[in-house]
Amino acid sequence: MEFYLDTADVHAVRKLNRVLPIVGVTTNPSIIAKEKRPAFEVLAELQDIIGERGQLFAQTLSREAEQMVEEALQLREKFPSIVVKVPTTPEGIAAIKMLTEQHVPTLGTAVYGAGQGFLAALAGAKYVAPYVNRIDAQGGNGVETVRELQRLLDLHKPDSMVLAASFRTPRQALDCMLAGCRSITIGTDVAEFFLADPAVFAALDKFDADWNSAFSKLVF
Ligand code: G3P
Repeated sequence: MEFYLDTADVHAVRKLNRVLPIVGVTTNPSIIAKEKRPAFEVLAELQDIIGERGQLFAQTLSREAEQMVEEALQLREKFPSIVVKVPTTPEGIAAIKMLTEQHVPTLGTAVYGAGQGFLAALAGAKYVAPYVNRIDAQGGNGVETVRELQRLLDLHKPDSMVLAASFRTPRQALDCMLAGCRSITIGTDVAEFFLADPAVFAALDKFDADWNSAFSKLVF
């Protein structure tokens, strides 16, 4: 199972990387734009925090396949192990095919349907990212899309992975993992939800109180 943070907030990544078993960080143009700093500067800091073995993802900006390929190569020149996210449009799928021929690992992103994601995988994408919450928000079923896509990959393209993205709640993320997907990226808000159940701290307060009433000091 690969767990990623979907953010370019270096302070949040530093803090959560200390606690969570993440293997890397995913970004997209909106996420990087929020930082209001040069993209390569932000990406370099993220890579530094997650270490050279941490997996970084960044997305192309162009709409034309040839330009997407050029941008992908620029990203790879600066960050040799980066996985390039390519929107799964017809031009994007063409770019994924070209990049696969050049041995550049890609993630087909902005996936709203199992068939669309499956084609990106067949074109060579190492990962495909269905947008779970955005699918739900437009009246679809994000988890069901993940389940179908995972099944298609298991049957026909087992070397590609569903990397489920776009979550509002921990429940959506859990349901994707239960549907069999083996990689997932969550925003810092959802990560905090996973970690911040107030009942846990209430339980610890009770342990402290019981210990203190017996021994007066919270030490062995
Ligand atoms: O990278 C894709 C993902 O970040 C989209 O998430 O939360 O903007 O729907 P969201």
